Amino acid sequence: MRTTDLYLSPVLPVVVPVSDVLSTHTELPLDSIICGDAVEVLKTFPSSSVDIVVTSPPYDSVRDYKGFSLDLHAVGGELHRVLKDGGVVAMVIQDQTKNFGKSLTSFRTIIDWCDSFGFKLFETVIYRKFGAEGAWWNKRFRVDHEYIPIFLKGDRPAYFDKEHLKIPSKHGGKTMTGGGTRLTNGIRIATRAITINPMKCRGTIWEYLTAGDGSRLKHEHPATFPNKLPYDFIQCFCPPGGVVLDPFVGSGTTTVAAKNLGRSYIGIDIAPEYCAIAEKRMVEECAGESNAGLF
Ligand SMILES: C[S@@+](CC[C@H](N)C(=O)[O-])C[C@H]1O[C@@H](n2cnc3c(N)ncnc32)[C@H](O)[C@@H]1O
Repeated sequence: MRTTDLYLSPVLPVVVPVSDVLSTHTELPLDSIICGDAVEVLKTFPSSSVDIVVTSPPYDSVRDYKGFSLDLHAVGGELHRVLKDGGVVAMVIQDQTKNFGKSLTSFRTIIDWCDSFGFKLFETVIYRKFGAEGAWWNKRFRVDHEYIPIFLKGDRPAYFDKEHLKIPSKHGGKTMTGGGTRLTNGIRIATRAITINPMKCRGTIWEYLTAGDGSRLKHEHPATFPNKLPYDFIQCFCPPGGVVLDPFVGSGTTTVAAKNLGRSYIGIDIAPEYCAIAEKRMVEECAGESNAGLF
């Protein structure tokens, strides 16, 4: 039995072969971290059973995650199958720079998943990182963003709540009297006074502080995303009690957020060491009860 064929139970520290547990699944293995290849594990999940995927795959060869390889095309097919109608995948991804050119993996994956499986690209959020200095380049820019394409299965999101994403309006509370709005036929509506809302909808650039984010345990993994990032997506697209999946769970940032928000979670990772970190974080960093007010 290979160590990557193990299923780690979150309740009892018993390790059983993935074949014994997963091949018989007609239901999702809720609230567990599963150690195995994402595509192989996903194939055992029932169709149309997951509300949201928040993840960040290994891309190009930016980091060596213990030498495992990955077929992102096959992952896209399986994620589309397991998502419920109206479910989304939020995927943090960037392109490696080689010889002054970008790999284009992010753009290729977006086009591939939409063309091959029928995903819609709902939006691409730019994740702007701040707080960490980053590398110093003489002949390149310092890259301080990653992409988060949001892939939608079906016509429209089944659940959408952006209340927690609102930000203060710069001129909130003031009254504005400007030129009237011009209609598409060119006619201008009469000027009227408008009171500006104190809060407005967040745009498509989301900022996260990367310096000092998370526990020492989390940083035993080499490439985590900010703790707050999955909270924002889960609250927006996953109903309370819904199912959150991360097929590249790493240190468990997504599954910790899901549990603290009162959602069910499933994490998959091919590296037993990272599954063990995720399991520990589920114990140490989850409030136990739903804790939507954490952020
Ligand atoms: C960018 S990291 C995810 C980090 C995570 N978002 C966090 O905050 O901790 C990508 C993860 O994918 C895992 N991985 C690589 N190939 C895989 C595969 N074929 N199946 C499942 N996981 C894989 C790596 O072990 C690594 O932990």
